[in-house]
Amino acid sequence: MQIEVIAGSLNEVLCDTLIIFTGSEAEAPTGIARDIDNALQSQISRLLLDQPELGKFGEINVLHTLGLMPAKRVIIAGIGKDKDFDAEKLRALMGNAARAVVKYDSRIVATYVSHLPVEARQATQAVVEGLILGAYQFNEYKTEKKPVKKIEKLYLAIPHSAERESLQAIAYKAKIIAESVNFTRDLVNHPASAMTPSHMADYANAMAQQYGLEATIFAQTEIDKLKMHAFLAVAQGSAQPPKLIMLRYTGNTAASEYTALIGKGITFDSGGISLKPSEGMDEMKTDMAGGAAVLGAMRAIAQLKPKVNLLAIVPCAENMPSGTAIKPGDVISSMAGKSIEIVNTDAEGRLLLADALTYAKHLGANKLVDIATLTGACVVALGSVASGVISNHDGWCNKVLGAAAQSGEKMWRLPAYDEYKEQIKSPIADLKNSGGRPAGAITAGLFLAAFAGETPWAHIDIAGTATINKDSGYNPKGATGAGVRTLIQLAQDLAQP
Ligand code: BES
Ligand code: ZN
Ligand code: MN
Repeated sequence: MQIEVIAGSLNEVLCDTLIIFTGSEAEAPTGIARDIDNALQSQISRLLLDQPELGKFGEINVLHTLGLMPAKRVIIAGIGKDKDFDAEKLRALMGNAARAVVKYDSRIVATYVSHLPVEARQATQAVVEGLILGAYQFNEYKTEKKPVKKIEKLYLAIPHSAERESLQAIAYKAKIIAESVNFTRDLVNHPASAMTPSHMADYANAMAQQYGLEATIFAQTEIDKLKMHAFLAVAQGSAQPPKLIMLRYTGNTAASEYTALIGKGITFDSGGISLKPSEGMDEMKTDMAGGAAVLGAMRAIAQLKPKVNLLAIVPCAENMPSGTAIKPGDVISSMAGKSIEIVNTDAEGRLLLADALTYAKHLGANKLVDIATLTGACVVALGSVASGVISNHDGWCNKVLGAAAQSGEKMWRLPAYDEYKEQIKSPIADLKNSGGRPAGAITAGLFLAAFAGETPWAHIDIAGTATINKDSGYNPKGATGAGVRTLIQLAQDLAQP
């Protein structure tokens, strides 16, 4: 998709679909929308007078221009009350508009980023991201492929040319970000048999080659040499060998510090011997969403080139029951040397993340972020609206939460009081891998905290946000790509001195 910021009216722009915005407070269209209304013989203002509910937030209505202007149709998108509107709402609204755009097979789309209750720079980013994210489709496994409806061109209008170049640059970055979220969504939407640890490593490698990242993939023997026993314990029940994906991005050669982005890469989570119930088990093909988010973020970072150094670490394995699988009651070791009592083989994510955190520190990372579909308890606590965050460091945690807020992703810090640690004490080993049902998202986080040690660390639990069960705003049913935008924003924020 090509994006062009243009100064002036949209009336003469030849396009399939023009998107205009209207609020529940505005009596008549203003600015660029007013010019369009004039060309359409005031049809829009008359329609809004007759049906003011079209201005409610999220409303999408289509008006056919029937030759009155070069644009074939106008989508009227409702922004609701100005005071409730923000960049993230605009992103969601554009997602709704994107579905209508796709429905009408629009190749050329035009809209504007001025005269909105969000300033032009933020609006540009939200409009571009919302459109690309909302138009996402995953048809890989449909044999009767619908004709691929690709948006080829997007015009973004502003009244004056002064800001043209800076907005053009923002639009270009937004496109990279949204396409990287879609890359993550693709990885997550694939069935587990097409996204084994080996497949995931291949995708990571290909992406790294394409965008010039340094990639290292470790196979079982190398993982074994590193003494990543907790990681290997998870993988030992599966016929699929584990892979450790590592990507390095050096954007600041003057600094030696690296920040590690660590993602859970369980390509299928059956629960292992502590087998999950059949109902909903199919959804566990998405248990590598954290790892996929890290890969998607690295894909964007490699193109945006912020002045920062990053290490991506994604341990990939399948959690399966078999004669070779770990058993409840087993005591295993870990790269850090800590012993772990396995009380539930379904609490597998924290095992491979524990070793990944240890390895990140071993490689010299001085700040850690991990992202994982870690606990059902987090879904109970925050639903599919917000991701849960646990951290051992207020400053670092606020940096991550700030990046989330800036990118429009909702994240909420959970308390990590020492008292909760009682739940993961083991009578036989240093730690046990499950603290039971109460505060399950927190005790999972505190398990990881034991391996993060003194290094500033933040853990993002995306179990509830990585997928969605119905189309909503810019998220079509299926994988959302949760966390990708936050990690990209974090990398950009770290590049600011
Ligand atoms: N992958 C699951 C968590 C999950 C649940 C992700 C729902 C997405 C949606 C994780 O490995 C798991 O099974 N966690 C257990 C931990 C428990 C055994 C301590 C859980 O949350 O039930
Ligand atoms: Zn899992
Ligand atoms: Mn599990």
